Amino acid sequence: MKLVLLGAGGFIGSNLVEYLIARAEHEVVGVDVSAEKLAGISGDNFSFVEADITDAQDLINDVIAGADVVVDLVAYANPSIYVESPLEVVELNFFENLRIAESCIRHNKRLIQYSTSEVYGKNPTSPRFVEDESELILGPVTKQRWIYAASKQVLERMLHGYGLQGDLEYTVVRPFNFVGPRFDYLVEAGTRGGPRVFAHFMSALLTGGPMYLVDGGTQRRCFTHIADANEAFTVLLDHPESINQAFNVGNPATDTSIRDLAILMKGIYADLTGDTPHNELVEISGEEFYGVGYEDTNRVPPDISKLATLGWKPRFDLETTFRDAIQYNLGQDNPSTTMGGAR
Ligand code: NAD
Ligand code: UGA
Repeated sequence: MKLVLLGAGGFIGSNLVEYLIARAEHEVVGVDVSAEKLAGISGDNFSFVEADITDAQDLINDVIAGADVVVDLVAYANPSIYVESPLEVVELNFFENLRIAESCIRHNKRLIQYSTSEVYGKNPTSPRFVEDESELILGPVTKQRWIYAASKQVLERMLHGYGLQGDLEYTVVRPFNFVGPRFDYLVEAGTRGGPRVFAHFMSALLTGGPMYLVDGGTQRRCFTHIADANEAFTVLLDHPESINQAFNVGNPATDTSIRDLAILMKGIYADLTGDTPHNELVEISGEEFYGVGYEDTNRVPPDISKLATLGWKPRFDLETTFRDAIQYNLGQDNPSTTMGGAR
């Protein structure tokens, strides 16, 4: 099959490209505005098109027309961007992604759309978030963090509508905090906002700067090893039962508070380098760290029984997930010592 990966140059995309090249089952065409994270990744079954999906629409239509399956990974995915530039987030994550779906409809192509665990929002009652049962509860309009979840949610609802009408075959992936190589970008000591938490804590370990605990770090996340996430992708691709369905891709066994994550990463770093990190854990408010309009989710626990029925389950525990990602950034497993990337 020919797979077109839009957003192939990002964190998930570059890891999927590497994985699909190694499996050598499919022809892969990557599209992105940047190939920086694809440096050193090549294979006979991979080609890259440098293009901006917002202004190269004829080219994108042609690429989609030539595909068997389209995988849409393009989005602004960092909380700092939702807070700073909410309209850019809705433009890209909803309107531009919808245009991709419409092109898939026109050309009769299957679409695998990356959505988010954040569509569940602040659901306080479900012990675990279940795809077709849990309530999706978002915060106030004046907390612009929720524009990301809202954009992804409306897109999912439209894909469902197109599926009901028989216009589109889609699969929605809801990732739960994937972690691995080429995650966002490193920052200088003391930086606020910017990338996601692994990149912040990794940067702190490398620079000796503070590890900021937003609103005290009691909030919890379930992190997913990128290798488990890659396998989930192929399970969804290979199973026709995934068509016109949404799936959580997450690991409930890795549930941790952000404070405990900081402590864990310090311990792994010490173990891998032999140096004791002296980073201070500094509590900071969400507003001071991200700006006015930040609000958080306290817990994001996935129920993964739906994907388990197709034969997938995560293999990596919390410690291994972060050990592998830290090791990558220390350059012990990989020639690159940076995570690369811009926004
Ligand atoms: P990322 O930011 O690393 O990758 C997104 C890619 O899209 C980038 O390479 C960027 O250059 C590209 N892009 C942005 N605008 C573009 C444009 N106009 N034209 C072409 N390319 C453009 O993000 P990621 O972590 O790899 O996330 C991929 C998808 O998965 C996103 O939809 C995100 O919302 C979703 N997601 C990711 C996670 C996670 O754990 N990483 C969690 C939930 C949801
Ligand atoms: C992120 C992305 O925004 C979404 O694209 C995605 O849907 C989601 O992850 C996911 O992977 O499922 P979030 O979970 O808030 O959302 O991701 P991070 O930015 O990595 O933050 C995780 C937690 O750590 C948040 O509570 C944040 O406030 C906190 N944090 C972040 C810190 O305490 N310190 C930091 O230096 C950075």
